[in-house]
Amino acid sequence: MSVSLRIGIIGGGGWLGGAIAGSILDSDLVDPRNLCLSYRSRQPDRFPDSFWTKDNQELADRSDVILLSVRPDDWPFALDASGKLVISVMAGIRLGALSERHKTGRVVRALPNAAAEVGKSYTPWIGANDITRDDRAVVRAIFETCGSEDEVASESDIDYLTGLSGSGPAFPALLAAAMMRDAVARGLPAEVARRAVNTVMSGAGRLLERGNECPDDVVQTFLDYRGTTAAAIEGMRAAGFDAAVAEGLSAAFKKSVSMGAAS
Ligand SMILES: NC(=O)c1ccc[n+]([C@@H]2O[C@H](COP(=O)([O-])OP(=O)(O)OC[C@H]3O[C@@H](n4cnc5c(N)ncnc54)[C@H](OP(=O)(O)O)[C@@H]3O)[C@@H](O)[C@H]2O)c1
Repeated sequence: MSVSLRIGIIGGGGWLGGAIAGSILDSDLVDPRNLCLSYRSRQPDRFPDSFWTKDNQELADRSDVILLSVRPDDWPFALDASGKLVISVMAGIRLGALSERHKTGRVVRALPNAAAEVGKSYTPWIGANDITRDDRAVVRAIFETCGSEDEVASESDIDYLTGLSGSGPAFPALLAAAMMRDAVARGLPAEVARRAVNTVMSGAGRLLERGNECPDDVVQTFLDYRGTTAAAIEGMRAAGFDAAVAEGLSAAFKKSVSMGAAS
């Protein structure tokens, strides 16, 4: 992929926009001078060799690819990106709405996650009919800089994955928080509990990543061992663990669909 590609990130000073900008610069996908970032209230100190502007139309005019990374409520109304490739990472906003508002058929809806900050996002995406083979290559190149990606078959898949992988980094944290609360309630010093739980989480992630195993197989291995782990898994399942996860993912899916309907 050429470093002469000009990329503009609207909301480049935000959590996700900044993480994507950092990844594409670290991997030399673009020359820093070909990266344009927009902000609203205060220009961030990051990426001093790139071009910052408050004017989103100026950003669009200077860029071949425009990445929209603002909250859906802040989605800029008047932005003419005629004929350009527009990639949105906004939860819920549908391809039809993107295409209509920005006057281009070359639109992509993508859903990275917070792990983009450490180059470990999983990003599903889908493009409108008008995107070209080169557009697909650009989308892949951008999201591979911050983790892995998949082109999916339908917008409904994106709505579902908005909860599963878009919100995903929150779920191990939720489990970790519950484990830590239990440990502290049982009298462990908070510092020890935190180190134990955080190390379990990062170690488990590394193990899954190394083997790329099916999680069900990993759980079954522990169940077959018939030790303390099996007792814990059975206790958690009996208390409704699987049902709680399914309920949460369903709530996220409904929220993503309703955000799209409101746009
Ligand atoms: N964070 C995630 O893990 C995650 C995961 C998947 C998808 N997303 C999606 O990514 C998008 C961004 O999320 P985020 O977490 O990065 O939010 P964020 O940290 O609040 O960043 C949004 C940024 O956009 C800026 N902004 C708002 N209106 C603007 C405008 N008109 N022009 C230029 N910049 C503007 C904000 O500036 P101010 O600070 O000045 O208001 C802020 O820096 C959202 O649509 C979200 O659905 C996020």
